[in-house]
Amino acid sequence: MLNKQDAVDAILRSSFAPKAASGKAFAPINIALCKYWGKRNDELNLPVTSSLSISMGHLGTTTKVSIHDRDQVVLNGEEIDPSGSFARRLFEYLDRYRGDDDPHYLVETESNIPIAAGVASSASGFAALVLALNELYGWKLSTRDLSILARLGSGSASRSVASGFVEWHAGAREDGMDSYAEAWAETWPDLRIGLVTVSTTEKPVDSRTAMKRTMQTSPLYEGWPGRSAEDLDQLRTAIREKDFNLLGETAESNALAMHEIMFTANPPVNYWLPESKTAMDGVREARSAGIDVYFTMDAGPNVKMIFEERSLREVASIFPEAEIISPFG
Ligand code: PMV
Repeated sequence: MLNKQDAVDAILRSSFAPKAASGKAFAPINIALCKYWGKRNDELNLPVTSSLSISMGHLGTTTKVSIHDRDQVVLNGEEIDPSGSFARRLFEYLDRYRGDDDPHYLVETESNIPIAAGVASSASGFAALVLALNELYGWKLSTRDLSILARLGSGSASRSVASGFVEWHAGAREDGMDSYAEAWAETWPDLRIGLVTVSTTEKPVDSRTAMKRTMQTSPLYEGWPGRSAEDLDQLRTAIREKDFNLLGETAESNALAMHEIMFTANPPVNYWLPESKTAMDGVREARSAGIDVYFTMDAGPNVKMIFEERSLREVASIFPEAEIISPFG
């Protein structure tokens, strides 16, 4: 069985000789319309199902990486405690990129995700780091290979190396070389995402633990792969035909199905707060009043609204605190 180092070596096969003093790159956060929930391989972050997301345009992480005398992480201008979990996770990831020379790295990372948005940034963080390493070493890797490397940091990071609608193919191979993300050609310039922040405190259970527990204990998990494949097909049709209601309905019910699986795990995994429920009810009420708006939620309490530019005024008046994003610029 392959480990992370084997996967990195299979792609790089090249030396670790820097081609520049530093490498710098940006990667967006992404919001899944068809969720990734469950791994078929924990070490390589190989998913049970394919998933589909939208990258959030200019919102994400910019990372600069350079060779240094020790491993150091600077986040938004402040040095991060090297013994803390954030830095340790990053250094552990970088351990796969040391080659024979065993270089140390200075990672300077900046995020323009509003802190209050409460959106996980590990996806854009690992994607930006891989893209920056690609610049530093002049690897000129394909998006497919970059996606595979980003996946080894965090599953959803595999989708953050591309923009627009991005499908992460689950793949079937044990080495994961067919499990990578790919951008779709279709765009939807009028699509808008509204981030409703309910809480920015750390989640009670991390997604790795929650995925494992739900797969092992929820009686509903066995239905998930089939359900997820159907949703992905519906989303493909919706995006091809620009059928907004089909897109919204499918994304919303896919998210609710994922959370239902979590609720029925033992012990249950519940990321919802009372305020999440209030926001979801608000979206449903808006819909009853004739406004085309839907929601999705990930492994956290914050709610993400999906709507089109034509509904912007109404949505913004109902949710004045929402951060509105135009994923297609
Ligand atoms: O990449 P991870 O391990 O943080 O998993 C995230 C999974 C969800 O955000 C809940 C769904 C998704 O597809 O992004």
